[in-house]
Amino acid sequence: MGWLDGYVALVTGGGSGIGRAVVDRFFQEGCAGIGVLLRDEEQGRLLRSRYSDRVHIVQGDVRSGEANRRVVDGTLQRFGRLDTAVGNAGVWDYAGRLENMTLEQLDSGFTEVFDINVKAYLLLARAAAEALRATEGSMIFTLSNSSFYAGGGGPLYVASKHACVGVVRQLAYEFAPHVRVNGVAPGGTVTSLRGPKSLGKHERRLADIPHIEEKIAGAMPLKFIASPEDHAGHYVLLASKRNSRATTAAVIQSDCGWEIRPAGA
Ligand SMILES: NC(=O)c1ccc[n+]([C@@H]2O[C@H](COP(=O)([O-])OP(=O)(O)OC[C@H]3O[C@@H](n4cnc5c(N)ncnc54)[C@H](O)[C@@H]3O)[C@@H](O)[C@H]2O)c1
Repeated sequence: MGWLDGYVALVTGGGSGIGRAVVDRFFQEGCAGIGVLLRDEEQGRLLRSRYSDRVHIVQGDVRSGEANRRVVDGTLQRFGRLDTAVGNAGVWDYAGRLENMTLEQLDSGFTEVFDINVKAYLLLARAAAEALRATEGSMIFTLSNSSFYAGGGGPLYVASKHACVGVVRQLAYEFAPHVRVNGVAPGGTVTSLRGPKSLGKHERRLADIPHIEEKIAGAMPLKFIASPEDHAGHYVLLASKRNSRATTAAVIQSDCGWEIRPAGA
């Protein structure tokens, strides 16, 4: 028996990194079907070849209300219900500092980063609300160590991820008692996380930063860098009605102890 036997889930950005690890783990825990909203065609092909008709893939942009509506409706049509919606797709700002941006870059970068990292979570929540209320399900959002601390990005990323704490709390308040709303906050994780196109950082991949693994691991109290799979169990716990029924408006930190790093590190 898995913790999510018979559940139907939906994951945005579920074709790579943390989102893909969540999809894989949800299936291991017994999910009957998963809807995935993703942008990259190749990621969709890989998911389909692995899971066949157990995944419902929608290719689209998370910033579009229509794409969020399409993936929710398609998931319901294909699998008949929705128990958990995971908002996860995101971009990093490659720690671009405020004074290194022109006012124009700041304007366009802010719009892109906040639209993807914050607005899209609200669009997903709006599109999935009715279906989740019907199953007394839950929403889970991918936050970050940058939801709580400075220095894990520039002002655009850190502000956007702090805003996601507000998304979790306010939606938990609005959707109680029927739908639980929680977050998982990973710390540095080697993935292909990219930057905003408006700042010319969309071809960069976090994993390509020289010595990134040693740098992050060295700064972590637990002295290793997490892989996407290290975070996935927290999503399972928060999705499980049997195992986290009393938990809403919570954020599980999965950041190798970032809060207790030595002063000056
Ligand atoms: N990697 C880290 O160090 C780290 C740390 C903390 C939090 N996070 C968060 O984890 C989440 C997942 O990132 P990841 O590290 O797995 O990187 P990733 O790049 O593998 O995953 C992000 C996914 O979002 C998709 N995406 C981006 N913009 C999109 C858009 N407009 N429409 C549709 N899809 C879009 C990408 O194609 C990608 O598949 C993000 O919210 C990120 O902020 C990552």
